[in-house]
Amino acid sequence: MHSQPSRSGIFAERHVAPSILSADFARLGSQVKDVLDAGARIIHVDVMDGHFVPPITFGALIVGAIADLVHDAGAAIDVHLMIERPERQVEEFARAGADNVTIHAEATPHVHYALMKLRDAGVSAGAAICPATPADALAEVADDLLGVALCMSVDPGWGAQELIPASLGKLERMRDMLPRRVALEVDGGVHSETAAACTAAGANLLVAGSAVFESDDPGGAYTEIAAAAGAL
Ligand code: DX5
Ligand code: ZN
Repeated sequence: MHSQPSRSGIFAERHVAPSILSADFARLGSQVKDVLDAGARIIHVDVMDGHFVPPITFGALIVGAIADLVHDAGAAIDVHLMIERPERQVEEFARAGADNVTIHAEATPHVHYALMKLRDAGVSAGAAICPATPADALAEVADDLLGVALCMSVDPGWGAQELIPASLGKLERMRDMLPRRVALEVDGGVHSETAAACTAAGANLLVAGSAVFESDDPGGAYTEIAAAAGAL
């Protein structure tokens, strides 16, 4: 069992979550260690299947590969599944060491079922929505199953895109709709210039990929974004 009580509260706090999508995979462990040493407490893992989004990235093997490093630092693994029919895969990611697993509402007719499977697997259950999906799309699962609501602020599939400005108003509408206990995560185009607007709009979890790992100093870049977000 990888999920432990000490990590379960992390998603309710305000954090900047470095996304390893932009990391140098030839030295993944040291890149993750850099941001953990700088204080990061959530590592975001972008899984893409070549169907829901065009690129193919990696699967549960990578979650398992970094699980001990992340957990030994008291940090949590946040898996973002950009895959079709995620309900068929969620348990594998929970077993590999994920602490939160987020599925896409657009990727399955069975969002409720997928979230139930995650809860039964003992991990936090998340659901993401793409830019064109209405802000209230998760309303029917928000009261019961949902732990994390993820607002994509770019089209999923690629790092280093510009944050879509309409995402800020959408975050506000999602925050108003969601119960207080549900975390609100924003993903795409987050950097030191956009972070404060995201937290002002109600997000408490901010994913940052290229702004962290395309820097020569990922730990320093993490710290700068976390400071801008008021997450230090
Ligand atoms: C995009 C991914 C993001 C990505 C964000 O589909 O879900 O997590 O890493 O990248 P940046 O921070 O570069 O926009
Ligand atoms: Zn992501």
